[in-house]
Amino acid sequence: MKLAVSAESSEVNTAAPSIGALTLIVTGITQSGRSIRTFTFADPQGAPLPGFIPGSHLVVHAGPHTNAYSLTSDGTDPIEYSISVLRVADGAGGSVWMHDHVRVGDLVRVLPPRSAFAPVARAAKHLLVAGGIGVTPIVSHLRAAARWRRKVQILYTFRPDNAAHVDDVVELGGTDAELFTARADFAVRLSVVLREQPVGTHLYTCGPGPLIDHVVETAVALGWPESRIHFERFGIDALDAGDPFRLRLTESSTTLDVPSGTSMLEALEATGISIPNLCRQGVCGECRIPLTAGEAVHRDLFLSDEEKSSREAIMPCVSRAPDGCTLEVPL
Ligand code: FES
Repeated sequence: MKLAVSAESSEVNTAAPSIGALTLIVTGITQSGRSIRTFTFADPQGAPLPGFIPGSHLVVHAGPHTNAYSLTSDGTDPIEYSISVLRVADGAGGSVWMHDHVRVGDLVRVLPPRSAFAPVARAAKHLLVAGGIGVTPIVSHLRAAARWRRKVQILYTFRPDNAAHVDDVVELGGTDAELFTARADFAVRLSVVLREQPVGTHLYTCGPGPLIDHVVETAVALGWPESRIHFERFGIDALDAGDPFRLRLTESSTTLDVPSGTSMLEALEATGISIPNLCRQGVCGECRIPLTAGEAVHRDLFLSDEEKSSREAIMPCVSRAPDGCTLEVPL
């Protein structure tokens, strides 16, 4: 996650949402890859931090940006939070801000960790597949598996000149870790590994969209049930334009068409309805609105799995409805 930091003044960005927010101090910044930096944060007085489920993310308010970053520890009794950030020069600006403005000693504001990619406790084995910076939540899973002595196997594919956590993967995974720097080798081995897993294995994958698609499609083609396939896409760039759907506004008794490529938030704003918002990327929680009817396609990283299942709220900046369906909101 990204934090609300002014590098020059070391002041907290008070424009950031404050409900449940934590103010932390940057305790370390290391260069983990050519364009990857690892940031650590702690309570300014050294107090323990809230624990979290492996695979959780942290929302960081950094300057004008709000972003979610995967936490890389296992979440048990943390005294520090650690994230690794790939600098994306042509991205929305959050990662560039983190690299160029955040310094050790700055105060930053984060939202407490949230789980969106949790390991399944009853799994007979955890098969982890990571690509590039997508290794960050996978490392969290790997640490948890090592701590609790769960059966685990990991495949990690990366560019040799710009990779993070390679040493962690080797140390934690031991002989159950396999590294790849050639996509073709990875694809061949993935197919073999997916075939030879014992019953009850759960698959977790994170990385660039095409890698996730490849891993999931390969697993499905080999007969893996979807209930045992888990993946995490990162960033708004991972979202497609979405299908068109309809929005029924119960307070004003009107119906809106939301075309593909237009967010629900944009459609509401176009009619003059103002919804508080900040990140417009599904990570900060600011735009949350109640949902009174309809099946949502939740694409945010803010609502918990339970909240998504309850069908009582939606984040209109990124979430939608299935093709041609109607959502009802009390606006
Ligand atoms: S504006 Fe941040 S989650 Fe929608």
